[in-house]
Amino acid sequence: MQLLDGKLLAETIKSEIKEKVDRIKAIHGKVPHLAAVLVGNNPASEAYVGNKIRSCEQVGFKSTLIRRDGSVTQAELLEIVKDLNEDPDVDGFIVQLPLPKHIDEQVVTLAIDPAKDVDGFHPTNFGRMTQGLPAFLPATPSGILEMLKRYRIETAGKECVIIGRSNIVGTPLSILLSRKGWDATVTLAHSRTKDLKEVCLRADILVAAIGVAHFVTADMVKEGAVVIDVGMNRIEDLTKKSGTRLVGDVDFDAVAPKTSFITPVPGGVGQLTVASLMLNTLRAVQSRT
Ligand code: GUN
Repeated sequence: MQLLDGKLLAETIKSEIKEKVDRIKAIHGKVPHLAAVLVGNNPASEAYVGNKIRSCEQVGFKSTLIRRDGSVTQAELLEIVKDLNEDPDVDGFIVQLPLPKHIDEQVVTLAIDPAKDVDGFHPTNFGRMTQGLPAFLPATPSGILEMLKRYRIETAGKECVIIGRSNIVGTPLSILLSRKGWDATVTLAHSRTKDLKEVCLRADILVAAIGVAHFVTADMVKEGAVVIDVGMNRIEDLTKKSGTRLVGDVDFDAVAPKTSFITPVPGGVGQLTVASLMLNTLRAVQSRT
């Protein structure tokens, strides 16, 4: 079993980005600028956005964090999106999800200029991705592909099972892995999938993106499989000072010995998601300079 070290890979990618940023600064006098909109005080969102802002500093980007409390109206949020769309200094921006219940996430996503949609959530980018046209790819699927590529994990002709059909991870990853160049045979499993254990046992590459702690157990994993864990679940752990611990969707201790490669949580896919967002922002700048 070999660990897929997302932390190390993310550091490598970020130092590659930093070199390019230094060149853009020297040649064009332009500092790439990523903005993030954070609504409310969801602890997971706070942590993700904090990580994104820190990564901006690491790669030499300017970052702007726009915070609103959970009572912000949809109209106010749409006004912020409009201002960011029109701000010539902002190269790309994200609106951190989830948003409070009274705000329609789809309306907000649709309001983002696709040329600044570095999350790749706008239907224009999603549609371009499905057709293999240049597009901002959603950060988590893109990070997973980068990890498979850099660890030279073969996907062509492999059985790939993805559990979870979210718009952010499962659905786009299923499309990307089945495209030419990746050439996997993809099964997108979900809560209504019958005989999930048998389906998972077929997987040469198993991706867990459900959001349920320790959902994937050892009896669901084929000997020698590659296991990618997208989960970020906080569970109680009274041995920790905080009283909680971050775990994935995979029962790591039981599953790891059966695998050829596995991502840890933390230190796996999450780190690459942020690196992919930085890469998308760099691409946004390169398309404008
Ligand atoms: N919430 C969970 N993951 C993401 C992400 O990649 N981008 C945004 N904007 N919100 C998220």
